[in-house]
Amino acid sequence: MSSFADRRATVLERLEDGVMIVPAATHALRNNDTEYQYRQSSDFYYLTGFTEPEAVLVLAPHRAAERATLFLRARDRAAEIWNGRRLGVEAAAEALGVDAAYPIEELAQRLPDALAGTRRAFVRLGDDERFDRTFFHALGAARTKTRRTGYAPDTFVDPATILHELRLIKDAHEIETMRRAAGITRLGHLAGMRATHPGLTEYELEAIIEHAYRVNGAQDTAYSSIVAGGDNATILHYNTNRETLRAGELVLVDSAAELDLYASDVTRTWPVDGRFTAEQRAVYEIVLAAQKAAIAEVRPGAHVRSAHEAALRVLTAGLLDLGLLTGSLDDALEKERYKEFYMHGTGHWIGLDVHDVGSYTLRDGETKRPLEPGMVVTVEPGLYVQRDAAVAEHFRGIGVRIEDDVLCGPAGPDILSDGIPKEIDELEAIVGSAAAAHAP
Ligand code: GLY
Ligand code: MN
Ligand code: MN
Repeated sequence: MSSFADRRATVLERLEDGVMIVPAATHALRNNDTEYQYRQSSDFYYLTGFTEPEAVLVLAPHRAAERATLFLRARDRAAEIWNGRRLGVEAAAEALGVDAAYPIEELAQRLPDALAGTRRAFVRLGDDERFDRTFFHALGAARTKTRRTGYAPDTFVDPATILHELRLIKDAHEIETMRRAAGITRLGHLAGMRATHPGLTEYELEAIIEHAYRVNGAQDTAYSSIVAGGDNATILHYNTNRETLRAGELVLVDSAAELDLYASDVTRTWPVDGRFTAEQRAVYEIVLAAQKAAIAEVRPGAHVRSAHEAALRVLTAGLLDLGLLTGSLDDALEKERYKEFYMHGTGHWIGLDVHDVGSYTLRDGETKRPLEPGMVVTVEPGLYVQRDAAVAEHFRGIGVRIEDDVLCGPAGPDILSDGIPKEIDELEAIVGSAAAAHAP
C-alpha cells in the first residue's frame, strides 16, 4: 500500500542529515520454550506494512540509491515448513516498495555504509541488547571508515521525535480501519450483553465476546480483556476473569478488537440480571453524564485535559449529590477528594497501540497540546466504590466505567465506537436476551 511509502518519504525528508534505523519486534517468551503470538512493532509496521520478525528498516536520505533498505529473513524451505512462510529477500523490494532488500545476516556488514557520512542516528537503544550490539559495532566500523575523510554519527536521537508525532495524526485509511475495529468491538459487546446471565463465568463471557471479534474479521484483541463482575470492577486492571457472575451485580467489560494492527478500546458496564439497582443506576447515570460532557470536549483547539476536567466536574458533583462526598464542589475539586472514587485519567491517544504514542504536551513539555483533526482519544470516566469504603452499604463494590474511542473531527467529536449500547434502557432491554435457555 502506498501509504507506507508515503510515510517513508516524509521521514526521509525530516531526517535531513540523519539516518533512521527501525527494527522489527522481537519474540516474547511466555513460558519455557513457548512464545506469545508474534506482534509486529507498531513503529516498524507504520513504515513498512511488514509483519515478519527479524527485520530492520534503514532510512538513509544522504545516499543516492538505497535510501530505504530492508533487511529481512531469507527464504528457507525447512524453516518455512516448521514455522511459516516468508516473503524473502528477492520479493521484498517490489512487494514493499523499498529501494533494496538484503538478508538480515548482512545487516552488521552493511550498516556501517549507511551510517558513514551522517551526523545523527535516529535509533532507539536499550530495548534489545542484541540489536544494540549490532548497532554499536556498525557505529565503530563507520567511525573507522571515515576517520580522515568524513564523519559518522555523533548524535543519537529517539526516532519517536519524528515517528510518534506522525503517528498522532491519523490519515483517512487509518481512521477507516479504526472505525472498522470499533465496529467489530460493537458486535462483541452486543453478543456479550445478550448472553449475560447469573451463573455465567467471567471467562465464558470473555470467550463469547472475543469469539465475535474473530468471526467478524479481527485478528486479535487489542489488549487482555477485563471482564469484572461485582466488586472486581473496582480493580482497575483486573483481568484474571475467573469468577462467576451473580444476580444483583454489575459486570464491567473493558475489551476490544484489534484490526490490521489498529486498536479499539471500549468499556461497557451492565447488570448481570438485566436490571440496575437504584444505587447502581445512580452511579451509572453520573458516569454516563460525565462521559457525554467529556466527549463534547473532543474538538480542535481543546486538549485531552479539557475532557478530563469536564468529566471531573460532573463526577464530583454527582458524588456530592449521592452523599459519597460532602462539602462544596470547588473544595472537592481543588483538594482532589474525588480521587477516592475516580483515580485515573479520562483518556489517552489510541492508534496502532492501544495507549498510543505521541506527546501530551508541546515541545516545551508544559503546554497542553491542543487537539487537531485526525487525533483519536479514548474517553473513559468511571466511578469505583471499594468494597470497604466508608459509605452506605448498597454503594459498596459498585464499579462503573464507560469508554469510547473518539476522533477529533474538524467540527468536533466523531465517536468511532458509536452504536454500542450505553443508555440504561438500552442495556436493560438487551442484557440476557439470548440467555434465556441458560437461565437457572
Ligand atoms: N483497556 C485499557 C484502557 O482502557 O486504557
Ligand atoms: Mn479500556
Ligand atoms: Mn482506554
